[in-house]
Amino acid sequence: MEIPANLETLQAEQAGARLFRQNCVSCHGSPGVPASVQGLKPEPPNLLRAGRRNDPAQVFGKIKNGIPGTAMPAWGDQLPDQSIWALAAFLHHSRGISKGDFDALSSAETDGSPKSR
Ligand code: HEC
Repeated sequence: MEIPANLETLQAEQAGARLFRQNCVSCHGSPGVPASVQGLKPEPPNLLRAGRRNDPAQVFGKIKNGIPGTAMPAWGDQLPDQSIWALAAFLHHSRGISKGDFDALSSAETDGSPKSR
């Protein structure tokens, strides 16, 4: 698995935060906001907790292929690799993010294309 160079740009993190807000918070929750879907077994982890590892290559694979036997869907048919890498960049960079910072990051306008800060 080749990790794109310069993965964790502000633009990628903004795009990832927005994608996360649109597609993932229902099950995974976001800072200060519990998941709206309850009762899944295994339970979806809080991915933005400080202290998580969120290795970008592993996160990319789990998002793209899903996790068989659990409620975690495969997103590879719906999201291009660039968007999945943006999610991976966001989830790695933003571990421990506050509610206010998440709200700001996930509402910023960006096309998600890789640019350096
Ligand atoms: C329908 C509910 C649901 C949705 C929507 C969902 N997930 Fe998940 N996700 C899960 C569950 C359940 C697990 C835990 C599976 C397990 O325990 O192995 C999981 C696990 C994961 C993991 C692995 C965590 C770990 O510790 O290994 C990642 C990464 C992940 N999800 C990312 C995402 C992203 C990004 C999105 C949005 C694009 C998303 N998920 C949307 C239910 C969901």
